[in-house]
Amino acid sequence: MAKASEFHDRMLSLGLARVSEAAALASAGLIGRGDEKAADQAAVNAMREQLNLLDIAGVVVIGEGERDEAPMLFIGEEVGTGNGPAVDIALDPLEGTTLTAKDMPNALTVIAMGPRGSMLHAPDTYMDKLAIGPGLKPGTVTLAMSPSERVSALAAAKGCSTEDITVCVLDRPRHEEMIAEIRSTGAAIRLITDGDVAGVMHCAEPTTGIDMYMGQGGAPEGVLAAAALKCMGGQMFGKLVFRNDDEKARAAKAGITNFDRVYTRDDMVTGDVIFAATGVTDGSILHGIKRDPGLLTAETILMRSKTGSVRRMTYQHPTGK
Ligand code: FBP
Repeated sequence: MAKASEFHDRMLSLGLARVSEAAALASAGLIGRGDEKAADQAAVNAMREQLNLLDIAGVVVIGEGERDEAPMLFIGEEVGTGNGPAVDIALDPLEGTTLTAKDMPNALTVIAMGPRGSMLHAPDTYMDKLAIGPGLKPGTVTLAMSPSERVSALAAAKGCSTEDITVCVLDRPRHEEMIAEIRSTGAAIRLITDGDVAGVMHCAEPTTGIDMYMGQGGAPEGVLAAAALKCMGGQMFGKLVFRNDDEKARAAKAGITNFDRVYTRDDMVTGDVIFAATGVTDGSILHGIKRDPGLLTAETILMRSKTGSVRRMTYQHPTGK
């Protein structure tokens, strides 16, 4: 078995894009059909099948759930042929199951791969997240700042007014106070109904018009977003949020000892990483699956942190073969 230092990220990257594409293509027929579960299951099946063709000794670190909750792509599942480098895999076969079922923007399939032991084993709890794009001094914004302080600090760093800042936030009752405080600065808010991996990625993609992401979302999605930002550039912070003892027990089981720790992007993903995402529904980062008679077209973003390379690939899949 190859050592972690021999993580063949360049060679494996195209394979990873295929895995991501396969999941998106499999869920294509379920876009807008109102069935979250069926869409997710189709993506899971396809992602697992393709992942098992890769020459890796992979372990799912961020997956569909714990072993007793998820029959496939559960945390700890070994994937790949076993003939290749020892790697950690973080995945979400369908990030935005409701977005897919309702044909709303920015549903993605997402997968990241890094050397064994390089990814945070995030429990299935919430994470308080904060992200900004590349080119800003480290610590320009922090989780210790209040939402309005973050907006002011970012505006000062960008040399603009707080009114020129747009913050992306998940539209949830738990964010009401934060939203009111952001609004008090004059900043604009783009509310999203789901999909905070894409939400965080928006900060690093100037065409989206998003300057900062903040708020609580899934902790597993936090690790996937950190992997994306590690490739795209940008800062991210995350702190686990526990609502009860059961969630703390989950964290302890995942090996977390300091429940108050603030994780930086590079604490969540400590080594080189490859990240692939394919659009399921049309969004501001990727086009969704396009369906034509006899043909499905998928767009994938494939990135490597080592080189900072970002590829956008269009795949045309003949459905009749
Ligand atoms: P699913 O794809 O599993 O439905 O998750 C979508 C999502 O919006 C994530 O992007 C986000 O981190 C999380 O759900 C937020 O959780 P909640 O809906 O409980 O606020």
